[in-house]
This record gives sequence, C-alpha cells and structure tokens, in this order.
Amino acid sequence: MTESTTLRLPEPFVMVVFGASGDLTRRKLLPAIFQLWCRNHLPESAAVIGYARSDRTDESFRAELCDSMRDEFSCHQGLIDDEAWQAFASRIFYQRGGYDSPDDFEALGRRIETLGAGRNVPGNCMYYLATPPEAFADIIENIGQASLAGRGQTDPWTRIVIEKPFGTDLQSACELNRITRSVFDEDQIFRIDHYLGKETVQNIMVLRFANSIFEHAWNHDYIDHIQITAAESLGVGSRGGYYDRSGALRDMVQNHLMHLLCLVSMEPPSTLTSDAVRDEKVKVLKALRTIPPLCAANGVVRAQYTAGSIGGHDVPGYRQADNVSADSRTETFVAFKVYVDNWRWSGVPFYLRTGKCLPRRCTEISIHFKDVPQVLFNRPPAGPLRPNVLTIRLQPDEGIALEFQAKVPGPAMNIKPLEMDFGYQESFGQAPPDAYQRLLLDAAVGDATLFTRSDEVEAAWQFVSPIIEGCSQDSSDNMRKYTAGTWGPKEADELLDADGKERRLR
Ligand code: BG6
Repeated sequence: MTESTTLRLPEPFVMVVFGASGDLTRRKLLPAIFQLWCRNHLPESAAVIGYARSDRTDESFRAELCDSMRDEFSCHQGLIDDEAWQAFASRIFYQRGGYDSPDDFEALGRRIETLGAGRNVPGNCMYYLATPPEAFADIIENIGQASLAGRGQTDPWTRIVIEKPFGTDLQSACELNRITRSVFDEDQIFRIDHYLGKETVQNIMVLRFANSIFEHAWNHDYIDHIQITAAESLGVGSRGGYYDRSGALRDMVQNHLMHLLCLVSMEPPSTLTSDAVRDEKVKVLKALRTIPPLCAANGVVRAQYTAGSIGGHDVPGYRQADNVSADSRTETFVAFKVYVDNWRWSGVPFYLRTGKCLPRRCTEISIHFKDVPQVLFNRPPAGPLRPNVLTIRLQPDEGIALEFQAKVPGPAMNIKPLEMDFGYQESFGQAPPDAYQRLLLDAAVGDATLFTRSDEVEAAWQFVSPIIEGCSQDSSDNMRKYTAGTWGPKEADELLDADGKERRLR
C-alpha cells in the first residue's frame, strides 16, 4: 500500500517491453516513456529492453522507433527534439525471443543483468506485457521459470504491468489471476486500464470529495439518474481481428465503463492509499444488480454499424472491415441500464452506452438531478423546468458544466436554462497529458492506486460475464444495426424514454 504520488522520481530500473514490435509499443508506450524522460521524470540510468520474436538489432529497433515516434509526435505533439531523442535512444535495447521459450527467457535474464550492472541499476525491473493477450500466460510462467520474478523481495523490486484485456470472461480472468499470482505477489502486479490515467477520470474523485457542495447531494435523495457515454467516431480500423473476438462489452464495458461507474458512485475512501480506494470500487461492483443471461438478450441493446458517413467521409460497415467475419455477430455498440443496489443509490438508474462510428468522439458522465417541487416556477404556465444536470466531460473538450435555471432579464418571470462551464484548456492553459505517462510513472514508483486489483477485475467480470453469456445464447439473430455516423439504434434511447428520462446526445 502506498500513498498516491505524483512527482516522485523512480529508482533506477530496467524496463522490459514484451511485444516490442506491436502498435501499442510504438504508438503509446515509447512516446510516453520518451516524454517522461524529456521531463526529467526518469532516472538517468533507466534502460528499456524491447522483446519480440522478430530479428532486429538495437540499432534497427531504435531507428524503427524513431520513425514511428516522428509520426506520432508530428500528429499530436509537435516536433521531436533530436538531441533529446539521441540521448534517450542510447538507453533502448532489443532482445529477440519467443514467448514460450524458456531458453530465451534465460537469455533475457542475462541481458537484464548485464545491462543493469553496466548502468549501475541495482536490480530493479519492470516488465510490461504489450503483446496480444494469448501470450500473457506463457510470458508470466517463463518469467517465473527463469527465476526473474523477484517474488517476496522489495529491494531490488520487480513489477509487472499487464495490458487489457485481462481475460475474456470471469473464468479466464480468474485463471490468468491464478497464473500471475503463482509467480508474482499481488503488490507486484499492475493491471493497466488507460482510462484511469486520464486526468479527467482522476478528477472525478476530486470533484466529489474535495468540494462539500456536491457530495451532500450525491445520492438517491437528489439524483434522478446518471448517464455514462463513451462514444467513438472511429471504427475498428486495422484491429478487426482482435475486435471481432471481443466486441464492445469486453473491449469497453468490462474495464473502462466499469471504472467510470465505480468512481462516480463509490463511497469516500478512508484514505488515498491504493487499497482503500480500490476497496470502495470493489464494493460498488459487488453491489451491481446482476443482469441474468435470460434478461440480457432483451434488456441489453447490442448493435453493429453499417456503412454510413462521419464528418463528410464515407465509412464502410463493420462487416466489411479487415479481418471481420462477413456474418459477424459482434456488437460495436451496447447500451443498458444498471442499478447499484446500496443505500446511497437505491432506485437510481445508471444508463451506460458505448459505441464505435458514432457521430463524434465524446466520453462523458452526466448527473441528472431531481426536479424541483411542482410549486412556484415549476408549474404551468411556466413549467416544467429543466432539472439541473452536472456534466463531466472526460474527453475531448475536457471540462465540467452545470446546467441551472436563471431569470431572463425583463418584466416577465421568464426562466431559461444556462450553463456554468469549466474547461481544462482555458483554466490550466493546456490539454491534459497522455494517460500512459502518468500510469508508467506510477508503476515505476510502485503506486498501484490507478491499477486494477485482482478482486476488482474479477468483480467486473462477475457482472459482465452473464450479459455476454445471455447475448451469445440468443439464437434469434437480433443483432440490431445502426448507420455509421448516427447515435446507435433507437432502442438505446427507448431505454430512457420508457423511464420518462431524456437522453443526452441523441
Ligand atoms: C481501448 C479499446 O481500450 O480504448 C479501443 O481497446 C478504444 O477499442 C480505446 O478505441 C478508447 O480509448 P480512448 O482513450 O481513445 O477513449
């Protein structure tokens, strides 16, 4: 257990990235590590070893990374600083090896040792699994076999960061936990979900627990319902092979949306230690009202996008994407209602929705407060008034807005909804930094608060698995369709219409 930290400098360490030739390494991890280096958040002697099956040398690996870094930086962050890159590149190495070959792990062990000794790294090591999930178990077992896990010792330390998806259902997640915990102690394991690294997601706790006015109204007495939407305008792109085996429930709901739901509904933790925070999140997951398989087929709206147009560009349908089966029944959109069955949230519905190829990228949580009593202004002919809505815009256009009522100046009592708006860009002069930087730094200093604990990942699967099971048992090919560039099938909005609620973004 550690206190949440922000700017602690990690001790010198060697980082081993499995899956070094993959997209994630090139597009997210190395740029994030490079940024940390440029901002002096990494120790001088830090070294990165890329590990993958294909043949490469240290030099060719560095050159490859440099090219993709230039693309990444020119798109998102401006020009790359050549001098800084040269200094950083000399700390990057490549080790060829299979994921299921014990000999290759022995060789990796020797390389870590030699590199560490040459750089005065006292044996600290961080493994990062950025491979396809099918390779996770082999890698973990081989790290154990080669005695590279450093179990039970904290000085020097060894940690492992495991990318999502962590399992494909409850059973496989439990099995992966079993394997991982047979090699590492829980406090060495960092299950990553990049949503938790987003500043706006971390700010949910600050908004709730650092401001007394919100928390008092944060319950069933004042809140009518909550909507959580993670909308993406992109389709599956080149990830069809992975996505067609996952779908929105596994890819977005089990992890990202569950974390958002937990953060917005959990009780205040007694401290900010990683376990105290995660204990509260687990309590929420355990309080979720189960959607049994039999209800999932009807109560959960799943849909797939068909060809359409987004921002003036034609978009092919999901079934036409590369590596997607022509008769695929994988959902690219899902919407459902869930209850957190505890005292605070008794009777308050949470409407969750996520989808690809929607009209625009937008992840937000909106808290819809109850109507004011039907007296004074909230009655004919003036009423009905619009209830207060607090919207937490997680991305893009990061910020928070509160909708409230105001009198329109003039002799008549006319009332109009207005918005108080806070924007990150205007208030802090910059957009929030990339989530991977924060998470990599936290793992390097050993702060697990923003990582998923084993019981948390299992509790999330406990809720999502019956839904997936119910949907897969449903033989009545009732996969709904929506045109790319629309907000999904009408049934998703009908979930709210039926309860007399108004859907935002439709
Ligand atoms: C990933 C999913 O975890 O999150 C992707 O696998 C999705 O399918 C992505 O596009 C969304 O992340 P962000 O940060 O762009 O909202």
